[in-house]
Amino acid sequence: MEQILVIEGGYSLKGSVRISGAKNAALPVLAATLLSPGKYLIKNCPELLDVKTFSKLLETLGITVTIEKVYDEDGSMDLCIDTDSLSSFEAPYELVRTMRASVLVLGPLVASLGKARVSLPGGCAIGARPIDLHLKGLELMGAKLNLKEGYVEAKAKGGLKGAEIAFDIPTVTGTENLMMAAVTAKGETVIRNAAREPEIVCLGEMLCKMGAKIKGLGTDTIYIKGVKKLKPTDWEIIPDRIEAGTYLMAVAAAGGELFLKEADASLLETVISKLRETGLKIELDHSGILCKKKGRLNAVDVKTLPYPGFPTDLQAQIMAIMATAKGLSVITETIFENRFQHVAELKRLGADIKIEGRSAIVNGVRHLTGAPVMATDLRASASLVIAALGAKGKTTISQIYHLDRGYSRIEQKLSSVGAKIWREDKKSENK
Ligand code: EPZ
Repeated sequence: MEQILVIEGGYSLKGSVRISGAKNAALPVLAATLLSPGKYLIKNCPELLDVKTFSKLLETLGITVTIEKVYDEDGSMDLCIDTDSLSSFEAPYELVRTMRASVLVLGPLVASLGKARVSLPGGCAIGARPIDLHLKGLELMGAKLNLKEGYVEAKAKGGLKGAEIAFDIPTVTGTENLMMAAVTAKGETVIRNAAREPEIVCLGEMLCKMGAKIKGLGTDTIYIKGVKKLKPTDWEIIPDRIEAGTYLMAVAAAGGELFLKEADASLLETVISKLRETGLKIELDHSGILCKKKGRLNAVDVKTLPYPGFPTDLQAQIMAIMATAKGLSVITETIFENRFQHVAELKRLGADIKIEGRSAIVNGVRHLTGAPVMATDLRASASLVIAALGAKGKTTISQIYHLDRGYSRIEQKLSSVGAKIWREDKKSENK
């Protein structure tokens, strides 16, 4: 039975929530276990659908994944990954189509087994999201590619060789895929116009602990000197900066005061300065971030950019709080071509938003009003939760499987600090 999320708006938040491990760090770290046989303990993995799906993908490759420990507070897990039994090189369509990040096994499989057969990820709600830059980089490293029946088959007889790679666009998973392909290639690889996201640094530091030789992590040029072999390692996932940013915006919508335990403010500098411009009070200390809302927010303009710019993964969420800010806010999405699916749903809640090309012009209204809305993609669903927390009356959100891909126990975390939010079975329409 499909479930919906029900939110009674108008309740301010008070208390603290633990920020879980970052989804977009956990996925490439799990892929990196393909680079060396042995046992890995990956700590602080978030309890998310995408992590479960990625574990299933590793199991289809013959790897065993066991849960060593569960953190009661938020369901995060320490996973033990044993890759001694890696036996397949194929990532099947049925898994890849549910999670594009499956493409992250491509680089490590070619590096480890000299071949891979990975289903091409389809498009997705936010854009075409091709992987041409991943494939071009692998070809430069000597892989022979063959696109057949919706799969990419990659072969590297005699192994990959180092190459000079320059990305047209700083692709996050493209940088991760090719960094993993390069760590045991013959010679040096240079990735220019590399992405600089903290999740890439988390992966790169793990690879270095496994014996890789990488310089320039977090900059736009990464140098990788191929080594003969790597060894397994234990590794801890960094806190999720997008989850933390989402909760900061939940306070901005609902009001009150929230402490985000284990949130790492150094990964959110652009977001924190933008939110301070709206009038949100944000204090930082070594154990997390304290956020208080004092009065109606000021409208601000936002333009999404690659890290360290304002993250595209928080664009829908800040739009939800600009919907009731004082004044006009121009929100420009420069990363994905179709990441405004949440606009129509926010307008059902009474928001006054006009799309002009790659920008949404948001004219702040006094308040939103609850209504039935539909989640269209992961971050759009978070934006609807935020809007509903501050709206007058009840909102119901359907298709919430999108939300479960990237937010662990969101209704438990929000209810524990005063929100009125719960799941219930979707009643059939024609009753
Ligand atoms: C990663 O996706 C994240 N996912 C996304 O988070 C995030 O929105 C995105 O980076 C941008 O920050 C993971 O890390 C698992 P890109 P990715 O390659 O790597 C174009 C979420 O909500 N491009 O950096 O797929 C692409 O179309 C998700 O957690 C090419 O043209 O994004 C896009 O316009 C959503 N060719 C731009 O580059 C390529 O070969 C940036 O995409 C690759 C990318």
